Amino acid sequence: MHTKQDFLSLSNLTANELSSLLTLAAELKHQWKSGGNQPILKNKTLGMVFTKPSLRTRVSFEMGMRHLGGHALYIAPEEIQLGKRESVPDVARVLSRYVDGIMARVFAHADVVTLAQYSRVPVINGLSDDTHPCQGLADLLTILEYKGSVKGCTVAYVGDANNVTNSLAFGVTLLGGHLRVSAPEGYQLRPGVVARANEIAAASGGSLVQMTDPRAAVENADVVYTDTWTSMGQEAEAAQRAKVFPPYQVNATLLRGAHKDAIVMHCLPAHRGQEITDDVADGPQSALWDQAENRMHAQKAVLAKLLA
Ligand code: CP
Ligand code: NVA
Repeated sequence: MHTKQDFLSLSNLTANELSSLLTLAAELKHQWKSGGNQPILKNKTLGMVFTKPSLRTRVSFEMGMRHLGGHALYIAPEEIQLGKRESVPDVARVLSRYVDGIMARVFAHADVVTLAQYSRVPVINGLSDDTHPCQGLADLLTILEYKGSVKGCTVAYVGDANNVTNSLAFGVTLLGGHLRVSAPEGYQLRPGVVARANEIAAASGGSLVQMTDPRAAVENADVVYTDTWTSMGQEAEAAQRAKVFPPYQVNATLLRGAHKDAIVMHCLPAHRGQEITDDVADGPQSALWDQAENRMHAQKAVLAKLLA
């Protein structure tokens, strides 16, 4: 029996581990598009614990399990009431007696760490307040498809430096890419994330730079990335954030500063007219729908690696 592995943050991976997951994701995608995947997860079940809403994460994991011959169990926020009806360790102890893997979407990142600690089966982070590694993996797959390589690529993130940005920072630097994050003062990457990404970048030849000016970030960039100004759990700050973030809207004027072949990315859901305009989201440079599709392919690689 091998020791169980979890997938909690891209910052825990080596560049080789990350690259091999991406290679596997591309292979599984190709296989699926050319007729179907092998049932390598036959009779395996993924328990999916949600404490927040979801479209992409829920459906892409569910379909991914089905493609690989297994199935997924959706557990709604009000059922388990993680940490309220029952402690997080007890949920992990019990759930891992029934299923072969757990995917959890949580508020506090510590909850996904605790689940992994007390679970007998692999735990996958389906988004926490701190990170969104499944999104990060899909984002890298998308950049690879459009740009051929992440190494040497300049990615400009514009807006709130949030969980998605953290995973992007770890992923892009691991593969030797250059990430520029432009966010208002008070909404930038946390020092711990910057320190870890810089450590990774020093080994890979990548880089991370933070700034407040979105135009400087986007200048000649290969990828322009944005996300919501108010993440799940921050709803009480929405009005304040709506005052601070308008200069960080990804619109046609901002995009003109990027490389002419730049792609636009957004993890979705998009708040059209806020962080991104319709013309950009639906325009020729938008990679949004391929990016969303790639969640499924990227996660199938994680499932194959952890559960098979
Ligand atoms: N991008 C993403 O995680 O989407 P959902 O919140 O719909 O799962
Ligand atoms: N930053 C967003 C991502 C949603 C997929 C949030 O946490 O709400």
